[in-house]
Amino acid sequence: MAEFFNTGLTQQQFLDQYWQKKPLIIRQAFPDFESPISPDELASLAYESEIESRLIVEQGRESAWQVSHGPFVDADFEHLPESHWTLLVQDVDKHIAETQSILTPFRFIPNWRRDDLMISYAALHGSVGPHTDSYDVFLLQGLGTRKWQVTDHEIHAPSLIQDIDLQVLSEFNHAHEWLLEPGDMLYLPPHFGHHGVAMEACMTLSIGFRAPTQAEAMDAVLNTLLERGLTQKHYQDANLKMVEHDHELNQQDLDNLKTLLHQTIDDAEPILLESLGRLVTETKPSLVDITHEYVTEPTSKKLIEQQFEQGQLLQKSTYHRFVWLEKESGGEIFVAGESYHLKQCSRQQLILLTENTTLNRADWLNLLPEPEVVETLCLLIEEGAWQWQTLDNML
Ligand code: SIN
Ligand code: CO
Repeated sequence: MAEFFNTGLTQQQFLDQYWQKKPLIIRQAFPDFESPISPDELASLAYESEIESRLIVEQGRESAWQVSHGPFVDADFEHLPESHWTLLVQDVDKHIAETQSILTPFRFIPNWRRDDLMISYAALHGSVGPHTDSYDVFLLQGLGTRKWQVTDHEIHAPSLIQDIDLQVLSEFNHAHEWLLEPGDMLYLPPHFGHHGVAMEACMTLSIGFRAPTQAEAMDAVLNTLLERGLTQKHYQDANLKMVEHDHELNQQDLDNLKTLLHQTIDDAEPILLESLGRLVTETKPSLVDITHEYVTEPTSKKLIEQQFEQGQLLQKSTYHRFVWLEKESGGEIFVAGESYHLKQCSRQQLILLTENTTLNRADWLNLLPEPEVVETLCLLIEEGAWQWQTLDNML
């Protein structure tokens, strides 16, 4: 059984004992760790208009927690104070594909639960303030030392400092305090209060997860039900009891409404996973424009064959999200919120199309026997979800 970093726990024991339950400090999770990108490289990402970035400056009680959003220009960095500021860049895993290797040890957690790799650079005493997040996160120290203070309980509906552009807890009592050095990592479940302060210039890599809300899940299911015309049943009250006041809504109305809603979910069973597949592969609004840049001309089996013969490889887009599910016959894959039904395909073909990061000629030969699989690959290339790379570019 695979070990969960160097904790002596198996990955399953970590999930059973800590995941969504309590924080865990992991010393030297990544031994001899060096951040894959330097502070300067991080700053250069924050100059790009397509990359989501924030600068957070703590300036004392009067004007505490100033937040500005990228893209930034030289002057934004030139005017920063000596200390007490943080630069945060989202989705570094998608913009800098080389950083994806950091995510490999987390592959025992479903890919669709993962949000992004956010990287921050903090000057001395830099902090984003004590806060909670709605999601699980692994905070990996990349450079310098950071002090983390963490609560021993979840905080729901916390009281926040008013009139600032940032969610900072107005009251924060920590139970744990840890100093993190490069390679150390802290796991935090959703809603645990945490406060990280840079003891010197430092970088933190946040491997952040996400999970749909009730509203998002209901919306996704309802959209699929409407598309399939599966919402026609009416409210029923064969159990009707005579009423004294005919304008009153009462408990039996409520019970019957709940029965109707429960029936809707039961009837939706065949489309539930499909709704989830579409929902969790939707592209984040901030990344949609980039995915459009990769849309290509129509392609064909013949053209694909030629490209492979010329020594090219297909590389999976880091901007598109992929999941697959197996059906009684064939399967379905979901990419960027779209579903692709494959009546005839093997489990191995589903995995090749969605889990591989590259496809070479040998993989192609495995896909080739199923015309529907080839057709789907053509569509995915056209969408930019798989992109051609010459071998030289990959080395
Ligand atoms: C940071 O990197 O400064 C903040 C990370 C977090 O608290 O979620
Ligand atoms: Co946080």
